[in-house]
Amino acid sequence: MSYNNLLLETGEGIATITFNRPKALNAMNPETTRELKDAITTCIEDEGIRVVVLTGAGDKAFVAGADIPAMQSMEPSEVMHIIENGHEALRLIETMPKPAIAAINGFALGGGLEISLACDIRFASEKATFGTPEILLGIIPGWGGTQRLPRLIGMGLAKEIVLGGGQIDAQRAYEIGLVNRVYPADQLIPETRKFAAKLAGLPAFALKMAKYSMNFGADASLDTANRIEIACCSECFSTLDQKEGMKAFLEKRKPAFVGR
Ligand code: CAA
Repeated sequence: MSYNNLLLETGEGIATITFNRPKALNAMNPETTRELKDAITTCIEDEGIRVVVLTGAGDKAFVAGADIPAMQSMEPSEVMHIIENGHEALRLIETMPKPAIAAINGFALGGGLEISLACDIRFASEKATFGTPEILLGIIPGWGGTQRLPRLIGMGLAKEIVLGGGQIDAQRAYEIGLVNRVYPADQLIPETRKFAAKLAGLPAFALKMAKYSMNFGADASLDTANRIEIACCSECFSTLDQKEGMKAFLEKRKPAFVGR
């Protein structure tokens, strides 16, 4: 599949989506958002793809936010359409039945940070920078920043970032739980691929159930969330991988998972 603003590469169970507008620091224009939706849909539909990695082209940016010139003179109704499309793309990432890893290689600002927040796991380069500078443009985050950020790092820290409009470095992002790990720049992609390869070899259905249980339970009452977990865990017992995993354990050998 070829896109104007994205690269989609697949192999060994891993799809890598690279935001590819380096001259604009990979800013998201409406076409890129449409392409992202399409690429994620392809990843969902292709059973050979087990894990999706998102990263940015070049050495400066993951994504420096929504494309400012493209938005500058829009009316509220036009902007609403663009924002809704972004939300749909990000919700697709968040709810897809496979893990998504953001490999954040540089600026993750505004919509860029928000894309990473829709991913399950965030790995960052030491050179990465994070923030929601929308307030400095006279707007607020529009792709879930005011919602997913407080859910991840807590309301107080999220308000400091969103209201202040400042940027934080990778070390600070790690300290506040915004990213899972920080690597030297040249190690980010190899380490991300290593982790993605590990996930690609694990039971696909169990990964899907674990993701669903955590995601859909997060906003439910504990009783409802526990019911979600009970249903998801029980459903794993319908798979060949559950049978193989437990048999291999009892036979003291490595399991040979088949992804079903
Ligand atoms: N949209 C479009 N183009 C962008 C961009 C963006 N968000 N961010 C950077 N660019 C472009 C610049 O205009 C510049 O292009 P030209 O060379 O043609 O002038 C090029 O990328 C390189 O940028 P800089 O020269 O500014 O590079 P820098 O290293 O001096 O600064 C930066 C880097 C701090 C990221 C700075 O570019 C910047 O502040 N960018 C804007 C970040 C921002 O405000 N993001 C939020 C957007 S709104 C949003 O995302 C809403 C939402 O929630 C969905």
